[in-house]
Amino acid sequence: MSYDELYIKSVIRSIPDWPEPGVIFRDVTPVFKDPKAMRMVCDAFIQRYMNTDITHIACIDARGFILGSVVAYQLNLPMVLIRKKGKLPGDTLSQEYNLEYGTAAIEMQTDALQPVAEANVLVFDDLIATGGTVMAALSLINKLGGKVHEVASLIDLPDLMGSQKIQDSNVAVFSLLAYE
Ligand code: PRP
Ligand code: ADE
Repeated sequence: MSYDELYIKSVIRSIPDWPEPGVIFRDVTPVFKDPKAMRMVCDAFIQRYMNTDITHIACIDARGFILGSVVAYQLNLPMVLIRKKGKLPGDTLSQEYNLEYGTAAIEMQTDALQPVAEANVLVFDDLIATGGTVMAALSLINKLGGKVHEVASLIDLPDLMGSQKIQDSNVAVFSLLAYE
């Protein structure tokens, strides 16, 4: 099924000056509330990534979990979590990064990609802004010995140059929608 970009955009809300002045927050929560939009979005990713050699879908905390888990379920692939610092038990690797509005750190469990010898990971998030979160995720996956098939997001904010930064590091990016 193809997706209707205008319909999905009509569902996503833009909230100016949140969480701080100057940021236009692209709110995807209405997509989760709208089964037609949710199905369109998930089906678009499922179609793109079926019949690939992806071994894991690594989903980024927290909004990335919601779409990414549906895609992982439908593709019958392991979903692994990239979580904000301090949330994952056991042995973890941590990576700090800068956000459009602040700094943070994300973590993965050190055994996340085991026992697969040559993990080929799809990194999944709802939105790419400055790319700081995804670049930190790429660094964690690299340290865990995985290679990255592609980075997938519902939304790209190209003006913030994050997707460009990711592609400059030789990792492919696929986003369903861009907000200039
Ligand atoms: C948002 C979004 C991405 C990240 C993108 O997450 O879901 O993960 O920001 O920004 P960047 O490209 O500048 O790194 P946020 O950290 O706000 O967390 P949330 O999903 O828990 O709301
Ligand atoms: N994460 C980082 N920047 C964002 C934005 N402008 N809208 C929604 N989520 C974001």
